[in-house]
Amino acid sequence: MSHAVDVLSSSEWADRIAADLAARVRAEPALRLCLPTGETPAPVYAALVELAVRGDASLASAEVVLLDEYVGLPEGDPARGGDRLRRELIDRLPSPPAVFHEIDLTTDPDTAAARHDAVAASGLGLTLLGLGLNGHIGLNEPGSTVDSPTRVVQLTATSRGIATDRYGAAASPTSGITLGVARLLESREIWLLVNGERKAEILARALDGPETDAYPASFLRRHPALRVIADEPAASRLA
Ligand code: F6R
Repeated sequence: MSHAVDVLSSSEWADRIAADLAARVRAEPALRLCLPTGETPAPVYAALVELAVRGDASLASAEVVLLDEYVGLPEGDPARGGDRLRRELIDRLPSPPAVFHEIDLTTDPDTAAARHDAVAASGLGLTLLGLGLNGHIGLNEPGSTVDSPTRVVQLTATSRGIATDRYGAAASPTSGITLGVARLLESREIWLLVNGERKAEILARALDGPETDAYPASFLRRHPALRVIADEPAASRLA
């Protein structure tokens, strides 16, 4: 399956994605958006908030579905996905999205995963994904097959380290809840956002290497409407 790869300069990358997202929601105001957290989307969300404040973007009729969440982090921990998405996007919009589907951490994790899966199963219009340094998408870690369901997952050492060292978690989470690869592939459209030189090697493996559960991102190539949006450093090792 062929996929579009948009390569942008690092300086225009976030603004362009935000503008495209604003246009996408303008065309379909009640779009159901599945959104990640992390360092990759943060500048995109900041740019989208700027557009919204200027009246050039609105998610007011859209529904937002959180992609994944850590299990076991205390309330108020800065790395919690739901809190982070509120902090960086939802709470900063002049008119918040019609619905924000967080992952319920007040119930047992398996039940929370099943409930969140039911939310996603009723349809995702556009899913934004970041790319893990280990090739994960959401928290579908290496070893996740193309038919992986939404579930509770054990995190790899890489992902645990990122939660504390880059996202500021007070203690390293051992597990998380993620929409499964299978559910993500059901989304009508997927945009894979990738920036920075440190992602160049894994992006090349995911797009140009074999399709393998060693890099679950490689399964995205099966999707008929995958758009990869990379900055020049991230795209530097693509074939
Ligand atoms: C976050 C998520 C993860 C990240 C990935 C890249 O919700 O699902 O898969 O997208 O780990 O993280 P950053 O963007 O921090 O490099």
